[in-house]
Amino acid sequence: MIGTDIERAAELLRSGKVIGIPTETVYGLAANALNEEAVLDIYQIKNRPSFDPLISHFPNKDSIYGYVKEFPVYAQKLSDTLWPGPLTLLLESNGKLPLMISSGSPKIAVRVPGHKMSLELLGLLEFPLAAPSANPFGYISPTRAEHVEAQLGEKIPYILDGGECSIGLESTIIDASSERPKILRLGGYTLSEIAEAGEIEPELLLNQNSNPQAPGQLDKHYSPKSKFILTENIKASLEEHAGKKISILTFGAMEEIEGVFQLNLSKSGSTREAAKNLFHYLRMLDESESELIISVKLPEEEWGLAINDRLRRAAAK
Ligand code: TXA
Ligand code: MG
Repeated sequence: MIGTDIERAAELLRSGKVIGIPTETVYGLAANALNEEAVLDIYQIKNRPSFDPLISHFPNKDSIYGYVKEFPVYAQKLSDTLWPGPLTLLLESNGKLPLMISSGSPKIAVRVPGHKMSLELLGLLEFPLAAPSANPFGYISPTRAEHVEAQLGEKIPYILDGGECSIGLESTIIDASSERPKILRLGGYTLSEIAEAGEIEPELLLNQNSNPQAPGQLDKHYSPKSKFILTENIKASLEEHAGKKISILTFGAMEEIEGVFQLNLSKSGSTREAAKNLFHYLRMLDESESELIISVKLPEEEWGLAINDRLRRAAAK
């Protein structure tokens, strides 16, 4: 059931239930992070392998101190400027969070979400919330309460409706447990926003397929059911696949192609607008029942990098 009753959401979480919650990035599948059974339920509902750890959500920075050994100075700078917002930090755990949340790793992932409703909910609770994105493992992330309802609605008692996510891409993940920060996932904050806020030059450590630092960085992810390809040249791809039922995802000034279901991530060429539309449009294309979805690559700047990362994984075999 979808609703806007924050008190009810809090009650359900207190009684160990898993519910859908809004954040500014994507919707989360949330439970009491200190309740191991509830956390186990998250893994089951999402059909997520136990080696893929969860992010814990807090109402503010101060409430995180009780769960970590250290909070390096640059990480403080980052969080002072960028929280609440789409930033997740990996910090060394002091052991207070159940190991299951970090899949046995000594580092925990923490963030303060930048959505009014989730902050209000976290403020009511006596515990942090473990929450992965509220999609079945491997599928497209949800950016509206209806997306969660469509796929997980029967498995959870409540979805708190906070409207359409304002960012639309998952948080940027930074391993802040060592001297040199490492970016493990591109996301809602761009590289330059991170560099500026933390006065740092982080190392980029994406695509850790063989030695996953962030196991969610598996090559195949965010995948529609239909066959999906990523191209620099839509026209050439269309010719190559002529005769098939194709739908396309475009960006910027591009003429309409007749007879093809087509969605444009941002006609004005804004990567920020494209981020907000990305997962909703991927779902619409997937529901259009075409044999093949063809997407353009975005310019490798601002949010274009994080979007291309998602598109590349959607296209991975
Ligand atoms: O924006 C977001 O981050 C959303 C909202 C709901 O907060 N959450 C999200 O969660 O994207 P999820 O589970 O879909 O992706 C979390 C990523 C995964 O790739 C996971 O492997 C990584 O964070 N992660 C979590 N804890 C980790 C840890 N202790 N060490 C390494 N990677 C970790
Ligand atoms: Mg996810």
